[in-house]
Amino acid sequence: MSSERYQLWGGCFEEEPSSVLRRLNDSLPIDCRLFREDIRGSQGWAHELHRSGHLSDDDYNAIEYGLRKVEKEIEEELIKNGKLNDSEEDIHSVVERRLYNHAGDSALRLHTARSRNDQSATDVRLWMLNSLEKLYITLKELIKVLVNRAENEINIIIPGYTHLQRAQPVRWSHFLLSYLWLFRDDVMRLEEQRTRLSRCPLGSGAIAGCALSIDRNELAKQLGFDDVTANSMFAVGSRDYIVEFLNWSSLCGSHLSRLAEDLIIYGSREFGIVSFSDQFSTGSSLMPQKRNPDGLELVRGTAGLLLGDSVAINCVLKGLPSTYNKDLQADKEILFRSYDKLLDCLKVTAGTIATMEVNSERALLSLEPGMLATDLAHLLVRRGVPFRRAHNYVGVALRRATTLGVNLQQLPHHEYAAICPDFGTEDDLQTVFSWETSVEQYTSTGGTAKSAVEQQLTLFKSWIQNHSWPRRT
Ligand code: ARG
Repeated sequence: MSSERYQLWGGCFEEEPSSVLRRLNDSLPIDCRLFREDIRGSQGWAHELHRSGHLSDDDYNAIEYGLRKVEKEIEEELIKNGKLNDSEEDIHSVVERRLYNHAGDSALRLHTARSRNDQSATDVRLWMLNSLEKLYITLKELIKVLVNRAENEINIIIPGYTHLQRAQPVRWSHFLLSYLWLFRDDVMRLEEQRTRLSRCPLGSGAIAGCALSIDRNELAKQLGFDDVTANSMFAVGSRDYIVEFLNWSSLCGSHLSRLAEDLIIYGSREFGIVSFSDQFSTGSSLMPQKRNPDGLELVRGTAGLLLGDSVAINCVLKGLPSTYNKDLQADKEILFRSYDKLLDCLKVTAGTIATMEVNSERALLSLEPGMLATDLAHLLVRRGVPFRRAHNYVGVALRRATTLGVNLQQLPHHEYAAICPDFGTEDDLQTVFSWETSVEQYTSTGGTAKSAVEQQLTLFKSWIQNHSWPRRT
C-alpha cells in the first residue's frame, strides 16, 4: 500500500501501463463527480456484508467511520481546488486508497465480492435518480414562467404563422401554451425513466453475480432503489437508462430550440413582437447598436450538441459484445455534459421569457386583413355555401383586391356582391374584420378563443399545484 498510485489490480503484471494508455484510461477528472454516490454505494455494500455475516463488527465500524471521513475530505478538496489531485485512475480507487488511510486493513475488505463493473453502474444510477429530479424542478420552473405569462397576457393577439407565412390571428397565450404542452409531455417522459432506472445493480459482481450469501433486495432498499436488476450480465452491460435519458434530453432540447427560434424571429426588428432584457442579451464588439439574443441562440445551438450526444451513446453501444467492456466508460462524459447543458438551457430559456417584454401594439400592426380570408369563407359557409366553393369565392376576392391595389377590408362591397351575393350587406362583411371576433370563433377544446385558452390554463394551474416527482414505490 505504499506505492504512490493505488491500483485496484496489477498482481499478475510485471510492467506498468504505458503513459499514453494511462492518459486514455484515467477517468478521475470525470467520475470524481460521483464521489458521493460511490461512497453511498460502499456504505450500503459494507452494511450488507456486515448484516449477512461477511464483515466483522470492527471492520464494519472502521469502514463506516473511514468512509464518512473520506466524504468530508473530498468535499472540502473539491470546494477548495475544484478537482482532486489524486493520481489514481478513477474515483473508486481514490475512495478505497483514502479509506485505507483512515480504516487501515479493514479497508481491504470493502471490495469483497464487488467489481467496479457493478459499482460504477450503481454510482451512475444513483446519480441519475437524484439529478433527474433536479431537471424536473427546473423544467417545472420554466412551465410556471410560461403559464404566468399566458395568464397575464391572454388579451394579446398575434399573427399565427404556418410555413412562416401569416396564417390566422391567435392569442399570444395560445402560442405559449403550444410549447407548454410539449414541456408537460417532456416531464411525463422524464418521470417514466425513473422506474427502469431505479433498479440496483450492486451484487452483480463483474459478470456472474455474487458468490456470497447476501440479500440484494435489502441492499437495494438500503440504497433507496425501488428494485434490483434481475440478471447480473444485464446489470453490468446495459446502459439503456443513459440512452433513454440522452434521447429524452435531445427531444427536450429540440423543443427549447424551436421555442428559441420563434422568439428570436419575434424579437427581430422586422417583427418586433418581443424584446429581451439586458440580462439575457449581449452586445457586439463592433456595432454599438446591437442587442443580440445570444442566450436563445445558444439554446438553439446546444440542441444540436444534445442530439449529437444521444447519437454518440448509441454509437458506443452498438456492436459491443455483451456485459462490460471498457468502451462503456465513455457513458459518463456524455451523460454529464448533456445534463449540464440542458439544465443551463432550461434556466436561460426561463430567464429570457420571464424578463422579456411583449409589444402588443406591434403584434396588432403585424396583422393584416388577408389573415381573415378563412373567416370570410366561414361567413359564406354559415349562409349555406359549400366550403370548397366559399374558399374559391374568397380566393377570387383576394385576386380582385390585389388587382385594385387594396386589402380585403378595403375591397368595395359591390365587388364582393358580384363574386357571391351570400357575402351579404356591407355591415355583415365589416363584422368579419375584427381580430377579436376572429379568435373568439374558436371555442371548441384546443382552440384559440379566450374560453378555450382559459380551459388549458386551468388544467395547467392545477397540474402545477398537484404534480410532484414520483417517490420510491
Ligand atoms: N471507470 C470504469 C467505468 O466507468 C469503471 C469500471 C471498470 N471496470 C473494469 N473492468 N475495468 O466504466
